[in-house]
Amino acid sequence: MTERLTITRRATFAAAHRLYRSEWSDEQNFQIFGPCANPGGHGHNYVLEVTVGGSLDPDTGMIADLKWLKQIMERHVIDLVDHRNLNTDVEFLRELNPTAENLACAFWRRLVGAVAEKAQLVRVVVIETENNRATVEEI
Ligand code: NI
Repeated sequence: MTERLTITRRATFAAAHRLYRSEWSDEQNFQIFGPCANPGGHGHNYVLEVTVGGSLDPDTGMIADLKWLKQIMERHVIDLVDHRNLNTDVEFLRELNPTAENLACAFWRRLVGAVAEKAQLVRVVVIETENNRATVEEI
C-alpha cells in the first residue's frame, strides 16, 4: 500500500468579476455566460484551498508549517486579488476570462514554484459559491 500525506490551508478573498469575451457579441456572451456577463459585473466571496504534500518531519510531526503556507498564499495570491476587480486590476490575470477554472489555473502557476522549496503542490481549489468550485491537481 502506498499513501500520500498532505496538508491543506484555506484562505478567503472578496472580488468582482464579469465573464465575457470582448471579441464576441453581447448576444453570444449572454448565451454562454448568462447574467455573469452583465456589464457591471458582480462579486463573490471566494475560498482558496491549497494542498501540499511532502515528507513528515519526525521532530515536528509536520510536513510544513501551515503559517508558512498561509504566508505564501497571501503573498502570491490573496494580497493581489482581495477587493479587486479580477477583469481589470490584477496583472497576472490580464487577458483571462476570470472563471473559477481560469483562476484556479492561474493561482496554481503562481504557487507551484513558491511552495517548491519545502513541499510539493498537490491541489488548488477555487470555491466561487457554495455550489461551484474548480480544482487543479497533479495527476
Ligand atoms: Ni461570478
